[in-house]
Amino acid sequence: MNKQTRQLAAVISGKNTSDGAGVKLKRIVSPQQKNAFDPFILLDEFGSDQPTDYVGGFPDHPHRGFETVTYMLEGAMLHRDHLGNEGHLRAGDVQWMTAAHGIIHSEMPEQENGLLHGFQLWINLPAKEKMKPPHYQEFAAEKIPHVALADGGYIKVIAGEYVSKTQAISGAVTGVTTQPLYFDVLLSPQQQLDIPIAAQHTVLVYVYKGELAIGVDKVLKAGQLGQLTNGDNIQLATQDQSAQFLVLAAIPLKEPVVQSGPFVMNSTEEIEQAFRDYRDGVLTL
Ligand code: FE2
Repeated sequence: MNKQTRQLAAVISGKNTSDGAGVKLKRIVSPQQKNAFDPFILLDEFGSDQPTDYVGGFPDHPHRGFETVTYMLEGAMLHRDHLGNEGHLRAGDVQWMTAAHGIIHSEMPEQENGLLHGFQLWINLPAKEKMKPPHYQEFAAEKIPHVALADGGYIKVIAGEYVSKTQAISGAVTGVTTQPLYFDVLLSPQQQLDIPIAAQHTVLVYVYKGELAIGVDKVLKAGQLGQLTNGDNIQLATQDQSAQFLVLAAIPLKEPVVQSGPFVMNSTEEIEQAFRDYRDGVLTL
């Protein structure tokens, strides 16, 4: 059966902001009431050659109700949580943290060779999994499947499955209910790439370097996120410039979302409970 190519339905430009202890970052997907990118709640890109932009990091803070995915391109991130997990994420490494019932952690960025660059993504959990025990996973760069493309370029398959005409490559992260797909892709100039993605998935493409053509006449520039809808395939191409971008996809939960600070729940009552539990020291029990 012929694949139907998804169309670019919305383009969003990341906004410069700060979070944590004054960390400057670009917020691409921001938590919002209408939950337009269900189940994706937030996407931040942090990157700077100025230590003062991020030296304060993200000291101890809680999360409940969702998953945080941290992916480093340059520099490092030192993570510590109340469960005793300690991770030193370096370039190419991924941390997939299922906060669920509750986690308290610190995330401290560190520059290496003058560089710091990475992403944090928040993926919502279904109501029935929001209060399950927390789970921490970390993947070194070499554990993430790397697919060399025939015309140059590559796909790093962090989560989900990349299916081409000749192969199917499973990502490092599996077993998540929303079946997320998280690819980091480099395309050389004048290259084309088709990625089949199930029709029910929400699909986002975020370009962090260069320029990417979508369909016949649409272009995403660095710093822009596109939402692609209606179809079971995405068709991407480069023109004169190379492009580096993330492809994110997951099954929408279609549940009510109430977010406040570091908590993402289904109702205001549950958010109030999360704040109470944190104050009373039982968020993580
Ligand atoms: Fe955090």
